[in-house]
Amino acid sequence: MINKLTDRARTRAMRLGLALLAMNAASGSPAAEPAAPCYLGPSALAAAPDGSLLYVACADARQLVWVSLPDGTACRHVSLPDRPSGVLCTPDGRQLIVTCAAPASTVILLDAATGDTLRALPAGHTAVGPAWDARRGRLYVCNRFDNDVSVFDVLAGVELTRIPVAREPVAAALTPDGRTLVIAHHLPDARTDLERFERIAAGVTLCDTRTLATRVLALPHGASGVRDVCLTPDGSYALVTHVLSNFTNVPFRVDMGWINVNVVSLIDLRRPRLLGTMGLDELQRGAANPWGVAVTADGSHLCVAVAGTHELCIVPTSRLLNERARRSMSPLPGAWPVYPSLGTSLWQRVALSGKGPRGVAVVGSTAYVAQYFSDSLAVVDLQAATEAAVRTIELGPTPEWTQVRRGQLLFEDATICYQQWQSCASCHPDARGDGLVWDLMNDGVGNPKSSKSMLWSHRTPPAMAQSARETAEDAVRSGIINILFSHRPEAEAAAIDAYLKTLEPIPSPHLRDGQLSDAAQRGRRLFESEAVGCHRCHPAPLYTDCRTHSIGTAQSPRFNNRYDTPTLVEVWRTAPYLHDGRYRTVYELLHEGRHGLAAKAAETLTEDDLRDLAAFVLAL
Ligand code: HEC
Ligand code: HEC
Repeated sequence: MINKLTDRARTRAMRLGLALLAMNAASGSPAAEPAAPCYLGPSALAAAPDGSLLYVACADARQLVWVSLPDGTACRHVSLPDRPSGVLCTPDGRQLIVTCAAPASTVILLDAATGDTLRALPAGHTAVGPAWDARRGRLYVCNRFDNDVSVFDVLAGVELTRIPVAREPVAAALTPDGRTLVIAHHLPDARTDLERFERIAAGVTLCDTRTLATRVLALPHGASGVRDVCLTPDGSYALVTHVLSNFTNVPFRVDMGWINVNVVSLIDLRRPRLLGTMGLDELQRGAANPWGVAVTADGSHLCVAVAGTHELCIVPTSRLLNERARRSMSPLPGAWPVYPSLGTSLWQRVALSGKGPRGVAVVGSTAYVAQYFSDSLAVVDLQAATEAAVRTIELGPTPEWTQVRRGQLLFEDATICYQQWQSCASCHPDARGDGLVWDLMNDGVGNPKSSKSMLWSHRTPPAMAQSARETAEDAVRSGIINILFSHRPEAEAAAIDAYLKTLEPIPSPHLRDGQLSDAAQRGRRLFESEAVGCHRCHPAPLYTDCRTHSIGTAQSPRFNNRYDTPTLVEVWRTAPYLHDGRYRTVYELLHEGRHGLAAKAAETLTEDDLRDLAAFVLAL
């Protein structure tokens, strides 16, 4: 089972060793002052087992911040090599493990008492969701964009193996007996032109840690934008936060959860199955974009950070496990929320003190919530959970938001939507696509389109698959009116534009040390050859000619057959492909779809040639 480390990994480990020395020298001192406003961006946190400290991963500042409790003083800042995406404290309270996300991520092991770095282990692309098995000294880390999970022997400092899993693992939790690793996947991974016949949903992988055998449990049809998973203390149940999209409804209204509802799915781990999915929304008040989830150590309460409405939802766990309550809290497509037997929500919703709550940690009966945009923590007493009782721990000076920062906040903010049902990020999580199709009414009805990535939208007009909007600016403004059912000041749309214009492509996980693989290089030659000529419509550097073409991909003769050429940059993360998502992979698009292969010479390409072409496109 033990993989030999590749030369590449060994070189990285050595490089990290050197970086480590430098970091130790700098440990405790603040990060160098960048010219732009320096946000902290607290997004994940963990508590010391004795409840005396919180360790807060500040993604934007690339720091881990120690906060002493109960006074809430930020007493130590340790610089990290990349954006920290997850943090845990070992049960003996002595060590901290931080995943630092990058195309070549690092897992940092720190001494909890001194802040010194003990080890730095190389991991995969965008490491996140660390889970620790104290008994075996094993650490599991999700590599979000490699679609696998690293297994480390931490004492020996080696990566034992990688477990291949489904698309975009973003969070993981281990049962107390160390036997089952529960891995939550961010997006569905299905073709979407068959939505009426198959389940299209993100899933949860259960991995047997002894055999490394995996099985996937699908979340309900329409599950997307999965953010977090936690277990009840006895390890019997897993709770998963996500959006549940009624994507087969024509979105002519947003109330009653017509477009998106916001839920927690409950998985029975003893007889592995999806037990139920519970709505967080109320009849006239959505709870958009659930993010972090945690259970109190006594198992009595569940807490969910609601990122889009800046709230914490609290529910007694006994209610979740109660069959009758569960039935009455399950979203019914298009008629939700009805709470037939109860008439009212079981959740208590508490308004927090800052914006963009993400990670949650619970100490005793107090919940601490990382407020990403406010550079602070909210402190909620679960016994007396009223708005007035919410306290704030400031991690730094109150941030002054630039237009770009405000734009990101607005993009993720459901309070600008009618009744707070959804934010732009509900269908464009992380400003990309949600892996689903929507029948927006801007170009007729009966022709659903994949949700699009926002990357380079403003640079590559027209907007929408059939150029229903001339520019991304138009699309942003019509989105606010027609999808959020809202009227907002122009300055807010301008801020969203400003934010979306700053999006940068993430280097592809298919690159090898930042370079094209041999296959991708062969693919590039074909792509740019006169005979194949993909570059005629997809010219570098944007990989789109910003024009529409009629290439025989219409859904039905009823509809216009001209489609906007999409950029191919980051196409590795935007499956499924074509405007209606009819292909799950780029290879299928070329092999079955014969996309772009109409020319005589292209007809003769072999399967290997098509694999090479796909390898190139996926490396962009
Ligand atoms: C219900 C899901 C949903 C919501 C909510 C949503 N969008 Fe979209 N968005 C889509 C879909 C689907 C498309 C692609 C439609 C098409 O190709 O015709 C799209 C396309 C776009 C595009 C065009 C991208 C391009 O390059 O062509 C922009 C810009 C955009 N959305 C911005 C926003 C903004 C801003 C918000 C919030 C105000 C928002 N969207 C909310 C589903 C959604
Ligand atoms: C005549 C112009 C044209 C040529 C030539 C062309 N494409 Fe395209 N490409 C398009 C258009 C238009 C679309 C969108 C079609 C749709 O959504 O129905 C597209 C879509 C794609 C997509 C899917 C992107 C997504 O996000 O869904 C990929 C991948 C792609 N092309 C790769 C290639 C490759 C590889 C070649 C060469 C073999 C090629 N294209 C040749 C116009 C072209």
